[in-house]
Amino acid sequence: MRIDVLFGVQQLTPQDVQGRVVAVIDVLRASTTIAVALSNGARAIIPMDSPDDAVTRSKQLERGAFLLAGERRMLKMDGFDLGNSPIEHSRSEVESKTVLLSTTNGTKALLAVQGARDVVVASYVNLSAVSTMLRTALRGGADITLVCAGQDRQFALEDAACAGRFVHNVSKRLSGLDTNDAAFAASLIDKKFGDNLMRLFNTAAHGRALAAAGFGDDLAACAAVDSYPVIPIYQDRQITLLGPDRER
Ligand code: MLT
Repeated sequence: MRIDVLFGVQQLTPQDVQGRVVAVIDVLRASTTIAVALSNGARAIIPMDSPDDAVTRSKQLERGAFLLAGERRMLKMDGFDLGNSPIEHSRSEVESKTVLLSTTNGTKALLAVQGARDVVVASYVNLSAVSTMLRTALRGGADITLVCAGQDRQFALEDAACAGRFVHNVSKRLSGLDTNDAAFAASLIDKKFGDNLMRLFNTAAHGRALAAAGFGDDLAACAAVDSYPVIPIYQDRQITLLGPDRER
């Protein structure tokens, strides 16, 4: 049994994910926004590589059935319905809609993961729910990879800390578990900040950039541990909630 952490997708090889259960972490903000939107009744989230791809794909969907959402440099694109703020993805906006989402790092990381047994979208807002799912998979003999989306091809402190929290939760009282060095480093970062997630976000470069851009309330939303206890599964090019019809 293994649990490995990858900092970024640049060096991702097929062996890192093949047949494994993979959690993609982009705490600020794509993973959080996906959990919030699905909790608020979005029918599905479709990760798109670029804003142009999202617009092209939307032409195949029924008018009124979808929303164009995402960000570049943290801001909503012109002509899009929503940005990448979890607060914007409210029930009144997203209920029953398919959300075509394109973000700088988070959706790219999701699209980079090919060949995994399962792909789950993980953040602090669904920490316990996803930890339970990963722990069950590990006990069933699956290896786990936690993929940190990072920021503009760089290491992102908040994703590493969140990965460290998952390593802690998932490996608790399990013996015979192997981890890579990145998992060990992620655990140290998680221990350093503990439950003070606002201190973590205010230390992290992307957290500070979001606050400076006026998205301070998003940081509080992203720090609300277990506020959206859902398990978003990426399968067949769309993310939907794990439910009775999609048991693992
Ligand atoms: C991303 O995918 O890079 C992020 O979610 C950026 C953001 O909107 O904060």
